[in-house]
Amino acid sequence: MSSIKLNEAFKLNNGVILPNRIMKSATSEQLGDKKRNPKPDLATLYETWSLGGAGLLVTGNIMVDRTAIGEPFNVVLDEESDLFQFVRWTQLGTVKGNQLWAQLNHPGKQSPNVLSKVPVAPSAISLEGDIAKAFNTPKALSDDEINQIIKRFATSARLAKKVGFTGVQIHGAHGYLVNQFLSSRHNQRTDNWGGTLENRMKFVLDIYHAIRLEVGDNFPVAIKLNSADFQKGGFTEEESMQVVEALVQVGIDFIEISGGSYENPMMVTGDVQTASKSTRKREAYFLNYAEALRKRTDIPLAVTGGFRSSEGMMQAINSGATDIVGLARPMILKPDLPMAAFSDTKFVFNWNEPTTGFKKFDMMTMLTLIWYEKQMWRIGKGQAVKLKLSPWMASLTSIWKVLTSPPVKRRS
Ligand SMILES: Cc1cc2nc3c(=O)[nH]c(=O)nc-3n(C[C@H](O)[C@H](O)[C@H](O)COP(=O)(O)O)c2cc1C
Repeated sequence: MSSIKLNEAFKLNNGVILPNRIMKSATSEQLGDKKRNPKPDLATLYETWSLGGAGLLVTGNIMVDRTAIGEPFNVVLDEESDLFQFVRWTQLGTVKGNQLWAQLNHPGKQSPNVLSKVPVAPSAISLEGDIAKAFNTPKALSDDEINQIIKRFATSARLAKKVGFTGVQIHGAHGYLVNQFLSSRHNQRTDNWGGTLENRMKFVLDIYHAIRLEVGDNFPVAIKLNSADFQKGGFTEEESMQVVEALVQVGIDFIEISGGSYENPMMVTGDVQTASKSTRKREAYFLNYAEALRKRTDIPLAVTGGFRSSEGMMQAINSGATDIVGLARPMILKPDLPMAAFSDTKFVFNWNEPTTGFKKFDMMTMLTLIWYEKQMWRIGKGQAVKLKLSPWMASLTSIWKVLTSPPVKRRS
């Protein structure tokens, strides 16, 4: 039986071609300058990834609202942005003919208290668990504010197309605002934005429609969605599949599957505890869900999380569970990983996850993010990745970044 190769092209339903099956998933870079425009280092970083061979690069989350920031040096794309700085990024990030999609995000209540005195959310419900202290209780958005945010997603998408991104991805996963609306744990509204799943998904569907109106039919509009939140009373797999079906019906081009949130970061730890024995043997997360989803839709799919070997990637694609494999941490530590995986069917990439040895401290300083961000900053400066980078230094950097954050614009 002939098998699909990792370097085989893939055509989306709108005719757009991904040159191969490997995608660099979104990786928040914190490479915005004081005005939250992209620093030149972002262009160098994405040029490195483009040359590394991935068919699709998705940017780290770009914020749609400068009053709502997830990390101190996030990039924002809105009417105040300097578009020239974005053009340099998209030009170098596509040198090898790959796709480069902008991930658009609003953090909702996952905006730390140093950046948001009063973050916004569907309902005034605080985050829980080890990270809760770093976040203030949010205020529930008014109807008018919800509609403003939907418009902001559309504006950012229009600008993304204008500056040369070849597609956009709505960040609908990992506990950020879109995900908060979908979850009956975080969305306890009694108006038409909450209650039934149909109401809870109105926010994401309205965002999709608003974006589509701005970018036209042939521009890829994708979403990253949780298979589940893995939280009591949270977004379930069945609900997630129904959201996918609704998005497919209105014309979404591509779905990327992930899972978890700040409260339960399954996106980087995987669903191995909850998964069946057969999944535990596989390296990638969320594959059971993808297999079940595949029976309900033939929409182009990517699964992200856990892929470390060409064999694991090939298996996932040839099982039919996914069309594309998404990788984040391995692509940071080895930007030319796709070339290596294309030429060697036995290719495996392993390393030790950074830790100070103090799990709670690692959680509080978001070590998993900052350690990898520091690696991206090195690449952006033309330096080599440093696998021995000290987790303690990375944690200190995390604190330093917060202390030196440009002021966040106040909500009017
Ligand atoms: C440093 C870092 C930054 C990340 N930033 C984002 C982001 O901006 N948007 C997003 O959807 N996921 C983000 N993620 C999650 C990854 O896209 C991915 O889902 C996760 O790391 C699992 O994939 P992996 O096992 O290949 O790393 C980030 C992960 C890391 C390590």
